[in-house]
Amino acid sequence: DSDYVPGNISGIKDRNEKPIVLGFAQVGTESGWRIAHTNSVMSAAQNAGIQLLYENAEQSQERQVEIIREFIRKKVDVIAFSPKTETGWDEVLQEAKEAGIPVILSDREVKAADDTLWTSYIGSDFRDEGRRAASWLLGEAEPDRSYNIIELQGTPDSAPAIGRKRGFDEGIAGDERFRLIASYEGDFTRGKGKELMERALRTYGGDIHVVYAHNDDMALGAIQAIENYGLKPGKDIILISVDATKAALKAISIGKLNLAVECSPLLGPQLMKAVKDLLGGQELPMKIITSEGMFTQSLAKKVLASRDY
Ligand code: AHR
Repeated sequence: DSDYVPGNISGIKDRNEKPIVLGFAQVGTESGWRIAHTNSVMSAAQNAGIQLLYENAEQSQERQVEIIREFIRKKVDVIAFSPKTETGWDEVLQEAKEAGIPVILSDREVKAADDTLWTSYIGSDFRDEGRRAASWLLGEAEPDRSYNIIELQGTPDSAPAIGRKRGFDEGIAGDERFRLIASYEGDFTRGKGKELMERALRTYGGDIHVVYAHNDDMALGAIQAIENYGLKPGKDIILISVDATKAALKAISIGKLNLAVECSPLLGPQLMKAVKDLLGGQELPMKIITSEGMFTQSLAKKVLASRDY
């Protein structure tokens, strides 16, 4: 399911029946979600008969820019990437545009003054994910209690960290039961989630009632820290995460995580379709937004066996 917003076409080449070459600059291997995303792109390219040049920037924006420049030098037909951060792409995107190579954003959006520098964004609405996490919490919370919340953010300046924070803040605003007592900058990894949660427990001890983690891996790290501290995750502390990977659904099914807002990593097939449509001369929508659910215990138990990432 997608929301279609009129977009722009740029850099269409005369193909002369040659195989399509797609350069994909992945941001890293930080999470279970990211591994599933990479696998989805790779298998979809193979199924679509598209030649994929895949490179991993391992969380370095400089490296991601370099990879994109390599793709420009190699004259690939289309470039796709999951930008580490929202900002800092104007120059390299301008270079791709001047070389006549269209760019598709997979999973994360960028902010640039000129939005003709990319063709389309395929991924989630992160702000909406944050809002839905908050709205679930509002519905679950007791009417006459107050709740101290710890937030574990994703990579600084990344689109999911910005959107998920904004949406959640908007969702709890004005409800006096909720107080965000600390919001820590993380990096979407399990290790950082554990480390930040240990810091939170050292500072606030038993005064923490809710943890809102920007992804499953950080929530899973936080669960370890809470257990090591001698508290019960999911019971003494409410835990909310985003992604809904199999590991999180398992934690939900045994009551250690309370909610996972879904963010789908299975973006490969839509990307390959977009690449073919674009090179076939079709106008792509500016945004192709994935539709997603939310998982609490009953639903997590139902889908666990069939979840393959
Ligand atoms: O950009 C999507 C986010 O990046 C996922 O939520 C997170 O797990 C990943 O690392």
